[in-house]
Amino acid sequence: MKQQMKWSWAEPYKIKMVELLKMTTPGQRKKAMQEAGFNTFLLKSEDVYIDLLTDSGTSAMSDRQWAGMMMGDEAYAGSRNFYHLEQVVRDVYGYKYMIPTHQGRGAENILSKILIKKGDIIPGNMYFTTTRLHQELAGGRFEDIIIDEAHDPENEFPFKGNVNIEKLTKLIAKHGAEKIPYISIATSVNMAGGQPISMQNLKELRKLTTKHGIRIIHDMTRVAENAFFIQQREKGYDKKSVAEIVKEICSCTDGATMSAKKDALVNIGGFLAINDWDVFEEARNMVVVYEGLHTYGGLAGRDMEAMAIGIGESVDDNHIKARIGQVIYLGEKMIDFGIPIVKPIGGHGIFVDAKKFLPHLSQDAFPAQTLAAEVYLDSGIRTMERGVVSAGRKANGENYYPKLELVRFTIPRRVYTQAHMDVIAESTLRVFERRNKIKGLEMVYEPKYLRFFQARFKKLQ
Ligand SMILES: Cc1ncc(COP(=O)(O)O)c(C=O)c1O
Repeated sequence: MKQQMKWSWAEPYKIKMVELLKMTTPGQRKKAMQEAGFNTFLLKSEDVYIDLLTDSGTSAMSDRQWAGMMMGDEAYAGSRNFYHLEQVVRDVYGYKYMIPTHQGRGAENILSKILIKKGDIIPGNMYFTTTRLHQELAGGRFEDIIIDEAHDPENEFPFKGNVNIEKLTKLIAKHGAEKIPYISIATSVNMAGGQPISMQNLKELRKLTTKHGIRIIHDMTRVAENAFFIQQREKGYDKKSVAEIVKEICSCTDGATMSAKKDALVNIGGFLAINDWDVFEEARNMVVVYEGLHTYGGLAGRDMEAMAIGIGESVDDNHIKARIGQVIYLGEKMIDFGIPIVKPIGGHGIFVDAKKFLPHLSQDAFPAQTLAAEVYLDSGIRTMERGVVSAGRKANGENYYPKLELVRFTIPRRVYTQAHMDVIAESTLRVFERRNKIKGLEMVYEPKYLRFFQARFKKLQ
């Protein structure tokens, strides 16, 4: 399925300042990769040419955001930037109460501690690494209720972030609603390849959870990107603005955790938002222990101001059209080259199917980790593993073996040009052409938590 937009898009901004990139030689890259233990997270960023490790905290801020930084009110308590941010969260997303946190996982920690009891079940539309870990550390167990299509990279269903309502109904019948503190719903499901949930599915979910008195907590890290896909693909939404759709999505949920480092175009920041006063009151108290006072939550006043302005820019139709247009441009180039990627093309990056790219490697030889290392060796482009390494281990010590074994080529917002996209696709093609000669990896160091960040590997002979 070609997703090409009918008309060309262009970035709705012009460039005022540039940062020079460092080009490296094959010898320098080989040395750097060995020193990094074949883990792209352990590379020094100055050894990277095009950095697609993540879209988190890597966006280019606008001149308005930088001007906002200069208006930081660095008071310990009651900074005016906090009140500005609180108002923007109410206006743009519609949530009643908001507590800033240093980033998304700060909000996940507080929320999990408040809502989850030992033995609880938290159903969700595919796990996310930090979200699930906080749920587990609070004594809960995550249950995947995403539709089966999400686990199939070739399936072109337009809303692969949808919840399987039947699966959830059975889960509620099995455990009882009192064991389910909330349903954990991500918009633009990261681990599925940036796939959206439809408004219709969200509304069905709202109906079911209201019947059982279960909350929906929204991981709204990429809600604007999800809203764009609803606008493009869902009946009845083509005349609505992204901002209107974002608000409608949020209105179907009871609260949210936000990593503002993605959609909201800032380099640091996040928040917890909630409509329920009691949960808010507890969170307001708890944030003091882990993040800072409830009017700064680990952030400087200037960070909150940049976030408030970035949220407004993130729901602009022209911005989001160009942002996703660039991702689709890269994805279609890769498809034309015959490179196996997750389809349909998602919102924040291209997810290359490492199982299909390197079919001769078993999951125990870490195909996605291997492929990320090979792309770096080819051109200095940094990507990341989203497969067996990221999935980690179960409480009993066994590895999770996710169906999806992917390399994520994540596109930072407003940072790279279309010419960079061409170079990325061509480097991946070069690796694809020599794929049969590529050998896998062996893990030689494994940290206890979120191992993908710091694990080390060596080449299998
Ligand atoms: C879907 C999703 N949820 C939560 C987080 C965690 O946010 P942070 O990295 O700001 O702690 C991320 C970050 O990558 C994410 O992609």
